[in-house]
Amino acid sequence: MSRTWARSGEGPAVLVLNGPNLGALGRRDPSVYSTLDLDAIIARVAKLAAELGLAVEGLQSDHEGEVVEALLAARGRGIAAALLNPGALAHVSYAVRDAVEAAGVPVVEVHLSNVHARERWRHRLVIAPVTAGVVAGFGPAGYELALRAAADLLRRG
Ligand code: DQA
Repeated sequence: MSRTWARSGEGPAVLVLNGPNLGALGRRDPSVYSTLDLDAIIARVAKLAAELGLAVEGLQSDHEGEVVEALLAARGRGIAAALLNPGALAHVSYAVRDAVEAAGVPVVEVHLSNVHARERWRHRLVIAPVTAGVVAGFGPAGYELALRAAADLLRRG
């Protein structure tokens, strides 16, 4: 499955890109991933974006190739930066890693949970080295922190 959130707001556009299983937020292990669903998280991001003078749009896909395509198409579609929660692709996907590297826009990686405090296989983040930085462990607020980081990067050029 995949789902999109239309662009809203004025200013440089930030893509909120979510990988596999993140469409189930709200009902998926709420003690780890919070009770908020992706609609609520994107609404919170959009509210902060308006304060920061940014526009926001969203995509969630359960398909690795669609995440790759979204990253490669981002710049050409006028996206200035992306927040990326790759889900489990964070631990294994060299394809998404290469797409982040090729995207030509800053990408801030977000994880709701503190992946470093969980199973060993979640400690390895293969995309992270080519991102602008990683926010992990702060629940839905991590997306807002990542947006502030992206806004700062865009301001500084
Ligand atoms: C996650 C952490 C990943 O390990 C996991 O596979 C997810 C969610 C997070 O947001 O904490 O799907 O990216």
